[in-house]
Amino acid sequence: MHTISQYQEIINNHFDHLKTIKDPKNLYEPIDYILSLGGKRMRPVLTLMTAEIFNASYEKAINAATAVEVFHNFSLIHDDIMDDAPLRRGNQTVHEKWDLNTGILSGDAMLILAYQFFESYEPTVFQKLAKLFSKTALEVCEGQQYDVDFETRDDVTIPEYLKMIEYKTAVLVGAAMKMGAIVSETSNENANLIYDFGLNLGIAFQLQDDYLDAFGDPETFGKQVGGDIIENKKTYLYLKALEFSEEEDKEQLLHLFSIQPNDNINKIDSVKDIFMSSGAANATQEAIKNYTMKAFETLDKMDVSNDKKNILRAFGEKLMKRNV
Ligand code: IPE
Ligand code: IPE
Ligand code: MG
Ligand code: MG
Ligand code: MG
Repeated sequence: MHTISQYQEIINNHFDHLKTIKDPKNLYEPIDYILSLGGKRMRPVLTLMTAEIFNASYEKAINAATAVEVFHNFSLIHDDIMDDAPLRRGNQTVHEKWDLNTGILSGDAMLILAYQFFESYEPTVFQKLAKLFSKTALEVCEGQQYDVDFETRDDVTIPEYLKMIEYKTAVLVGAAMKMGAIVSETSNENANLIYDFGLNLGIAFQLQDDYLDAFGDPETFGKQVGGDIIENKKTYLYLKALEFSEEEDKEQLLHLFSIQPNDNINKIDSVKDIFMSSGAANATQEAIKNYTMKAFETLDKMDVSNDKKNILRAFGEKLMKRNV
């Protein structure tokens, strides 16, 4: 096994070597740009790590890991268009640096590129990877559509929210891990258990993403803090704040999420105050812990050594402490 930072280094080196700017430059430069901005590389790290958990070499999983990361970066380019986001990983988003059409087409090309990375696998493994990938990519689209639909709804429920984040975020984390299992040719049971581990970790991850979007440090977060509030995103913070607030705060929150003011600073501050005072911020922290624990429970049934289970637990613990 390797450490998380070793896996990150392997992935980063791999992406450095993949760099080729072909013509037309306006198609390929944005792809290189977004991939070079790095990020945590969580999903490909999980693919490599899972392959080794199930006794394969990480080299075998590198193309699957690359596919997952390229797909993730594609989804970020399009997500930033949909969320009207100015910043990504501390830099301008692709549609801001270039334009909308560039973001759309470079994103499309990345989706195809992602699929191409599966071509190196022999037919039975290829088929399993491609099948899982297609199912996952479609679910991500469904989750993204719910996310946008919810912006203009004022009756979103917690179960609806949880389904939405499962689809837009968690299924890819589950799939990243299951791909490591597929490549290692471990049992179907292990592959499904590691998917469930990743899925629950992914739900915790998106809950924390929502938390950090409101309460992250603008100096280090790398994205526009308060972006979800500006866009009227129906996050766990928001839904719990509505549930916990007395009539006056509830009315104010509903009002703030029905307007698009010129001055967003006041809106963000007022909303964050209610998120805090209502107990929604604490409830979100609790939910992050609970979904992480739920992920850990799947390990009890998994047929791997305790040492390896501890590595997976350590990853989950580390994720809970993140501030980026
Ligand atoms: C951002 O993912 C999109 C979400 C699903 C929340 P990450 O937080 O993993 O982004 P990077 O790749 O590290 O920048
Ligand atoms: C993004 O969710 C999910 C996908 C990219 C599919 P967010 O919109 O919350 O992600 P960030 O916060 O912009 O990274
Ligand atoms: Mg976004
Ligand atoms: Mg989004
Ligand atoms: Mg977010």
